[in-house]
Amino acid sequence: MTVLATREAVGSASVRPAKIVISGVTKRFQRRGDSFLALSAVDLDIAEGEFVSIVGPSGCGKSTLLYMLGGFVPASDGSMRIDGEPVSGPGLDRGVVFQEYALFPWLTVSQNIGYALDRSGRPRQERNEIVERYITLMGLRGFENSFPRELSGGMKQRVALARTFAYRPGILLLDEPFGALDAQTREIMQDELLRLWKTDRKTVVMVTHDVDEAVYLSTRVCVMSHRPGRIVEEFDIALDRSGSREEIVLTDQYRGIRNAVWMSVRRQVTESRTATA
Ligand SMILES: Nc1ncnc2c1ncn2[C@@H]1O[C@H](COP(=O)(O)OP(=O)(O)OP(=O)(O)O)[C@@H](O)[C@H]1O
Ligand SMILES: [Mg+2]
Repeated sequence: MTVLATREAVGSASVRPAKIVISGVTKRFQRRGDSFLALSAVDLDIAEGEFVSIVGPSGCGKSTLLYMLGGFVPASDGSMRIDGEPVSGPGLDRGVVFQEYALFPWLTVSQNIGYALDRSGRPRQERNEIVERYITLMGLRGFENSFPRELSGGMKQRVALARTFAYRPGILLLDEPFGALDAQTREIMQDELLRLWKTDRKTVVMVTHDVDEAVYLSTRVCVMSHRPGRIVEEFDIALDRSGSREEIVLTDQYRGIRNAVWMSVRRQVTESRTATA
């Protein structure tokens, strides 16, 4: 397929040492006394500064894989390394936005956003300026002192994104981070993420169901099979992202890649339906 660049054409991603190395990772869960395989021998290397999206059928293990990287779920087999070190638990080097946007219910919006900044030892004034900037950016002005229970789902998601973006961890692990947002806010947040990624070149691993979002934002899209999940196809996305969103999504290149990824996901979803029928 001509629209898909080879790994070499994309640039130096393959020659730089990998920041994240996932090899032969398997996950078994116990359910009603039985053990079942959620992930099967997943291999994935991610270079520093890459933006990798993971797409695939519901229940294929995307969240599980991300939370294993976050250090919240141990692997049953295989290994996960970050900067050469085995992942043994959560750390401030990784900022996680959970699918359920897990906020601290006992903290206000401002305190939630400042949470990791407090732990990373920023001076008070700088911390407050960053929190204020994100309150404005995320459209949360007026809700600084509200508690999560007083917010809508979309607002909670914006607080969760702000909390993670604000302290700029080296690795962002995002589980359907824009799923609860209305279409306009979603585009604003996607562009904010793209802007952050372009300036900071953090390593991003994002799970999404939205193929357009994956292609628009990522340097690589990995398609997972139905359960037990493994990575069945990878697409390198060498898009020129210097233009506006409108310019990018209208190019033949964007549309060609988008259709190829969409077909690949559709194959997996169809197979998962046949398998469970
Ligand atoms: N803690 C757990 N205990 C038992 N089973 C689990 C646990 N966490 C996940 N599972 C199961 O593992 C499989 C993968 O779940 P996971 O949440 O990773 O899927 P997903 O790809 O993120 O799905 P979705 O797209 O719907 O969010 C599912 O069958 C789920 O029921
Ligand atoms: Mg999930």
